[in-house]
Amino acid sequence: MRPVKPIDALRQDLERDLQARKTAGLLRTLQVPHGIDLCSSDYLGYAHDPELSNEVAAVVAQEGLGSGSARLLRGHLPLHDAVEARLATFCGREAALLFSSGFAANSGVLPALCGPDDTVFSDALNHASLIDGIRLSRARRVVYPHADLDALETALKVPRTGRALIATESVFSMDGDLTDLTSICDLAERYGALCLVDEAHATGLYGARGSGRVEALGLSQRVACTLHTGGKALGSGGAWIAGDRALIAWLINHCRSFVFSTAVVPAIAASLDAAVRRLPRDAQLVTDLHEKARLLRDRLRANGLDLGQSQSCIVPVLLGEAKRALAVAKSLQDQGFDVRAVRPPTVPEGTARLRLTVRAPLARADLLRAADALTLAARP
Ligand SMILES: Cc1ncc(COP(=O)(O)O)c(C=O)c1O
Repeated sequence: MRPVKPIDALRQDLERDLQARKTAGLLRTLQVPHGIDLCSSDYLGYAHDPELSNEVAAVVAQEGLGSGSARLLRGHLPLHDAVEARLATFCGREAALLFSSGFAANSGVLPALCGPDDTVFSDALNHASLIDGIRLSRARRVVYPHADLDALETALKVPRTGRALIATESVFSMDGDLTDLTSICDLAERYGALCLVDEAHATGLYGARGSGRVEALGLSQRVACTLHTGGKALGSGGAWIAGDRALIAWLINHCRSFVFSTAVVPAIAASLDAAVRRLPRDAQLVTDLHEKARLLRDRLRANGLDLGQSQSCIVPVLLGEAKRALAVAKSLQDQGFDVRAVRPPTVPEGTARLRLTVRAPLARADLLRAADALTLAARP
């Protein structure tokens, strides 16, 4: 018998795995947007804002499409300096550094700051990019149960050598709950640890300037650095890290996802800049958005649905099994609502959900209609 060619063996392995996923209701396929957007992170509707698009187009017309190379080669443009200075001011920090994505930032910053002699304390529900960053750092990883600060304190008390860093999101991306960042900073200071706060789902939505919950809680000088993404409330893409000048200079020297990656293109730098300059005008929009999110949460909870600890624009409706979440999602999609089922391993086993997001452009009536349709569809 002729041996199976490696490429055929691979295809058979992959097809077997994909079929098993399908049977378990866990297969992912790509779906283009359709219906009323109740699942994107374009919280403020900036992704299709004509004024912002025009502003970015004007910068692209002047600066061009590409940066040409990494920042440490010829890719560093005056635009990067100007935008980073404004992003630093926006965050109330000395300096900022642009990245092509939040994933690149988190997975690069952690290994730049921590190594095998160090310890990273990580919330159990942290985003994959933080988890991968910790893995790449080869630091000792201590995962504490989600939001369990007693467990975090117990872990911090254990004698250790090297640097200690607590990594957490400020608004949890799949659960929509708000981290007790003040207590985390207190613990960090008591036990000699640094804090890295991922503000992906808070940027644009919290704080007087809009940089996030660290700003809103007056903690800017108490955390080592914050991560901000452009792909959510700011409507485009890219990301930045804000922190002390020394920390940013260190990243420029040691952060592999910065050093060995093409510089952020002018369109992304310009779109972050334009969105951040726009935020002060949209303060009322943000207030209304939080009020709409409360309206949706209250209606769903009054209808008897389990939203966990959600307190934000991220509203998970916990449904349990993956197939149930898929069926409820399909029913809502058929009624014109764009919702998606989030299933393991993205979320823990038995907690498959519809992850709704509330966005400023949504009408209150549509939110209530969606809540009631979901309640009917979720009835056992
Ligand atoms: C909490 C959190 N951190 C980081 C990221 C990664 O950001 P980006 O989409 O810019 O790679 C995401 C995006 O899904 C996120 O939700």
